[in-house]
Amino acid sequence: MQSKQKQKQRHNTMVTIYKLLCFLSLLFVSGYADESLNVPIGLTNFNGQWELVSENSGVSAMHAILLPKLNKVLMYDATVWRTSKIPLPPEKMPCRIANEETGELDCWCHSVLYDYETAKLTALKIEHDTWCSSGGLTVDGNLVGTGGNGKGANTVRYLSTCEKCDWREYPASLADPRWYSTQVTLPDGGFMVFGGRGALSYEYIPTEGQTNKNPTFFPLLQQTRDLLNAQTPFVIENNLYPFVHLSPDGNLFIFSNNRSILLDPKTNTVVREFPVLPGGSRNYPASGMSVLLPLRLKLGSLKKTNAEVLVCGGAPWDSFYYAETQKKFLPALQDCGRIQINEPNSVWKTEKMPSPRVMGDMMILPNADVLMLNGAKIGTSAWNDAEDPNFAPVLYMPKGLRGQRFKELAPSTIPRMYHSSAVMLPDGKVLVAGSNTHDGYDFNAKYPTELRVEKFSPPYLDPSLAGLRQQIVDELLDKVMSYDKQLSVKVRSNEPILNKNEVKVTMYAPAFTTHGISMNQRLLILGLVDVDSNAWIQSRVHNLIVKAPRSGEVAPPGYYLLSVVYKGVPSASIWVQIK
Ligand SMILES: *[C@@H]1O[C@H](CO)[C@@H](O)[C@H](O)[C@H]1NC(C)=O
Repeated sequence: MQSKQKQKQRHNTMVTIYKLLCFLSLLFVSGYADESLNVPIGLTNFNGQWELVSENSGVSAMHAILLPKLNKVLMYDATVWRTSKIPLPPEKMPCRIANEETGELDCWCHSVLYDYETAKLTALKIEHDTWCSSGGLTVDGNLVGTGGNGKGANTVRYLSTCEKCDWREYPASLADPRWYSTQVTLPDGGFMVFGGRGALSYEYIPTEGQTNKNPTFFPLLQQTRDLLNAQTPFVIENNLYPFVHLSPDGNLFIFSNNRSILLDPKTNTVVREFPVLPGGSRNYPASGMSVLLPLRLKLGSLKKTNAEVLVCGGAPWDSFYYAETQKKFLPALQDCGRIQINEPNSVWKTEKMPSPRVMGDMMILPNADVLMLNGAKIGTSAWNDAEDPNFAPVLYMPKGLRGQRFKELAPSTIPRMYHSSAVMLPDGKVLVAGSNTHDGYDFNAKYPTELRVEKFSPPYLDPSLAGLRQQIVDELLDKVMSYDKQLSVKVRSNEPILNKNEVKVTMYAPAFTTHGISMNQRLLILGLVDVDSNAWIQSRVHNLIVKAPRSGEVAPPGYYLLSVVYKGVPSASIWVQIK
């Protein structure tokens, strides 16, 4: 005990001397100490940066998700067009039979693994149409996808994460067709799938190879389905790809059109109904964006975790009608609603984005800020139904003062509207791909089918902040976490002392993005027990003691990207598995 105290005293003395020397040398070099580090990262004058990283992703990335273990991004669109820019390689022969009556063949790939470091493509072969489908990752980091079009609609498909793996498909697994449906991961690592065109229901995804008999009728989807009016049964929908978030109390928050509820998935009962969010429609084809805001986990297993949902953008309820029938494009919505989901009587608090956005993607960044990007300023989802691409990403800082949370960032030059996607990468950049507003591949249109891939560096990658970037000592971390247990995360650092109030350890569950929805995305800010800097003088390493999430309700079992954030700057992240 005494020797430990002595050690600590010695450390502190050495650190004080070290800091004094640093300070003196700073004074000597620049004449003043750097004050800018007290400014939130989003408010420095670095507005992010775009780089083009590939000219050809093979398929246009309508759906995309980062896969653990392989460190690749899975991208796929649809088989319905029987074309892409990557032919089926000889080892994947024979070709798909695209039409059983005519015998027409399809010798193109419709899904690929994209290596985000080299841009190299690995061809995969899929049979049943994945058009407008959904997905999520299992506890072992393998993909489970659901639904699609035609023969894909009742399909459950599996892709394991190994070098030679390819799709396994079960075309009759689901009870209802799931075209534009949402898949959600449950606390035990299982999945449910909600809605879809003509499917006003939900069902649990059965074990591999099994078949569901009956779906469960879900009135909310019926009640929120828009028709033009009783006389003109023009179907607008606005209830597809509902937003579904797992609340840390184990209930599911479900948002469709402008209404939302909390559903207990164990008893199929509605626990709470939230007030209507006014302003317009938020779900497909009105296609707004939504995230469960980062969950701050408290130390002490019994302390409640507050959960808030953010819903932004979308379109007026009849926007799709005008776009489809008259090619008249109404302005997209510019507002956001934010609500506490595990408090009774909570209300929506609204905020205004710097610009309107429909079909955008909303990504949670490793430092617990939110990035909105892609989409259009007028129109809706569907073929040629939007104009005026929104090129500028927007940063949303949830902890900021209301009215000061948004910042518009550096614009891209590539329109990313219908069928585009975005993926958070372990180095903190965001991969941006896809966009196809045509029924087929069309490279000569005003908004061509997009195969170029970009990376966007958010403001925390400002080169002048590089000194704050901690480096996780990978080999020292126990990569399998157990619920509710303490663990140690070691970081190599330039700073002799990491102020505990400026340190965050975060865990990110990868999103399955498609059509402006990011399924199963979540970020947890772990409870920080201690920052131990005793070893820093010898090894430049700090030891952070954190508490793992308490249960599957807070963090469904599976793979997460773990990052150490210092003064708002995230380290590169590493994969951890919790189970
Ligand atoms: C909610 O959406 C429905 C269907 O589009 C619409 O009739 C209703 O007026 C909306 N409510 C509010 C408060 O905006």
